[in-house]
This record gives sequence, C-alpha cells and structure tokens, in this order.
Amino acid sequence: MLKGKNILLCVTGGIAVYKAAALTSKLTQAGASVKIIMSNGAQKFVTPLTFQALSRNDVYTDTFDEKHPESIAHIDLADWADLVLVAPATANIIGKLANGIADDMISTTLLAATAPVWIAPAMNVHMYDHPAVKRNIERLQSYGYQFVEPNEGYLACGYVGKGRMEEPENIVKLISSYWEKEKNQPLKGKKIVITAGPTREILDPVRFFSNRSSGKMGYALAEEAHQLGADVTLISGPVSLNPPIGVNVKYIENAEEMYDAVLEEFPSADIVIKSAAVADYRPKQVSNEKMKKQDGDLIIQMERTKDILKTLGERKDHQFLVGFAAETSNLDEYAMSKLKRKNADMIIANNVNEKGAGFEEDTNIVTIYKKDGSNKRLGLMSKKELAKEIFREIVKTLQEERSK
Ligand code: CTP
Repeated sequence: MLKGKNILLCVTGGIAVYKAAALTSKLTQAGASVKIIMSNGAQKFVTPLTFQALSRNDVYTDTFDEKHPESIAHIDLADWADLVLVAPATANIIGKLANGIADDMISTTLLAATAPVWIAPAMNVHMYDHPAVKRNIERLQSYGYQFVEPNEGYLACGYVGKGRMEEPENIVKLISSYWEKEKNQPLKGKKIVITAGPTREILDPVRFFSNRSSGKMGYALAEEAHQLGADVTLISGPVSLNPPIGVNVKYIENAEEMYDAVLEEFPSADIVIKSAAVADYRPKQVSNEKMKKQDGDLIIQMERTKDILKTLGERKDHQFLVGFAAETSNLDEYAMSKLKRKNADMIIANNVNEKGAGFEEDTNIVTIYKKDGSNKRLGLMSKKELAKEIFREIVKTLQEERSK
C-alpha cells in the first residue's frame, strides 16, 4: 500500500510513544521506508533502539550529532520525506511549531520540511482543551498542517476524555487513502488555463460577428481538470452553460479581451488548452451608433485579430500547450502544420463535416496529434468522455517527458 513512500516519523514525549513503535512497525509492513526522529522526552519512554529495530533505519535524536559529514541531517531528512508525521505530538511541539521555534532536531526539521506534515496529538484532556493549545492548532491548520484528531477514552493520567492518540492502524489507513486519492488526482498542484466558447466581434451596438461554438468542450475539460485535482481557470466567451463547480471562471466577449485574459494567466500556468473558437477577423470600424441600411450592398472591412495560441507558442517556457483545430478536409496535414506553426505540444482536431463531430453537438470525433509526430484517432464519444481521454493523453505525455 505504501511501497516506495518515505515517511519521516517525529516522536515526541508522552506515554503514547509506545503507539508510535506500533505505528513504525505497521508503516514498515505496509511497504513504507520509515525514518525516525525522537525528542529527549520520547527517549524517556522508549529507547531509540526499539525504533531502529522496527524501522531498520538510523534513529535521529540530536541536531548536532551529524552522522554523515557530506550532509546536514535535519535538511536531508526534511527533503527525503514524502510525508512527515508527528506522532505522538505533545502540546510542546505543537506550540513550538506554531511559533516558528527551532531548538531541537524535530522542531528544526519541521521548519525545513516542504512535504505535507501530519500531526497526531496526544495529551491530557484539559491540556488539549487549553485556549493556547487550541489557538496553536488553529494557526497550524491555517498554515496547511493536517491534524489526526485524538480519540476520546481512558487517558494514562486517569482522566476520561479527548486526548488519546489515534490508533496506529487507523493512521496507516488514513495515509494510504490520502495517497490513493493523490493517485487519482494526477494534476494536483498544476494550474490549468482553459478557454471556451466563441468570441463576439462587435460591429455596432446591436450587431456582432461570432461563430457556432457552444463552449461544451471547454466546459467539459474544465470540469475534468478540476476532478483531477488541478487549479483551473476557465476563460469563457458568451455561452449559455452553468459555470463548473470549483473552477475560477473569467468571462470575456471578444478576441482582444480573451488575448489579455489568457496572457495575464499564462506565466503561472502549467497547461493551457485553447478550445475556444476565437474569431480570426473583426470589423475594422466599430460604429457607436446603430448602422442604418442603405441601398445596395454593404461591404465591411475586417482586420485580423491576434492569434493567441501562436503568441503563447512563441512565449512559452515551461507550459504545455494544447490547441484545437476544426477542419473540413485534410485533417492530418492541417493539424500537423498548425501544431508546428503555433509551436503547440498537442492539437485536438476534428472534421466538422463528420456527423456527430460539429459545433453545438454533445459529441465529437477527434484525432489527437502530438509533437513527436504520432496521432491517435478516437471514435464518436460524448464531450465529457472526450475530456477524460484528452487529459489521459496529456498526463501520459507529461509523464513520458518527465521520465526522459
Ligand atoms: N486561436 C487563437 N487565437 C485566434 C484564433 C485561433 O488562439 N485568434 C486558437 C484556437 O483557440 C484553436 C486554434 O487556434 O486552439 C485553432 O487554430 P486556428 O488558427 O483557428 O486555425 P485556423 O484559423 O482555422 O487556421 P486556418 O485558418 O489556417 O485553418
């Protein structure tokens, strides 16, 4: 369950240290690699040798006892950990961490840790209820620390109440399900910008040029990205769809506004998906008054809008760029040339003349083209299913690139 995971267990002084020994054993049995730091108090209850035998690793007790001259132990341990667990956590270590105090091996390592830190308190019921302890816990929660709440029951001090450290097997279960969830959220920590819908290019106060894009594909992509754990910004043209839950939506009207909105988000984005149908042209003159009809034909001069995807392709440094291409013929040729011209990493192309693949539909039939020249044709499917397929392909490509 925990194979390949590095867990740093920080053991502070309380009678529940014996539970930390059981916890070490269960974590190790579940496949984790466990390293332990013990406070002076903890060593009064159980010897470091117990933890060394259970973890088959060195046990650290003193900031200044450097075992390996080539590294600094508390920084090394902090960097090594995929998860730091403070169990049992006394009121003292909670207070120190909440106030940024670093005066022993555990408190210094905790300040240096960038991995998630979980804290399993164990103390007397009145100590746990003390306003200072409560305030420290709240402060640490606001910093993003995760607490494993103590149970109610018989306490070593003779009281019955809340303060018993959570049982080791339950802590192991919580950690396993946390990583299980992480596995299903491969985009956690990634910022994704998605554009959707049409743009409207104004001619006069009552008229505009637009296209038949419904925004359904972009909205389905935004929903899926949120499900996969990403921080999603959806930049949407005018559509009649409800904003997806958990997604930050910015509404724009024309191509110029979309350009500005996308470029503002671009530097902090990891992935950008341009599923919007952006107008390539807009009226050169915009009339402030409603245009009156005249005899004869009307000729409207149009000018090019800025090509957003192309601009992103020119400016990208770390971002993964996905474009869309709606074609009516020569799909392979046009899609690959668009991918190259715009310096994109992936192009999702469809033939809008194919039944089930057009604008406004709930379904699509696409081919995914990648930078390495490969392509994958997907059959007729709903736009929601397609959003899943597209992200499966993006995640796979990113993993392949990372392992190169
Ligand atoms: N796109 C863009 N900015 C524009 C126009 C299009 O970012 N002003 C993006 C779309 O969001 C889509 C991709 O570019 O991801 C579509 O390519 P596009 O240039 O529209 O293709 P076409 O204009 O259709 O190219 P061509 O006219 O050569 O087919």
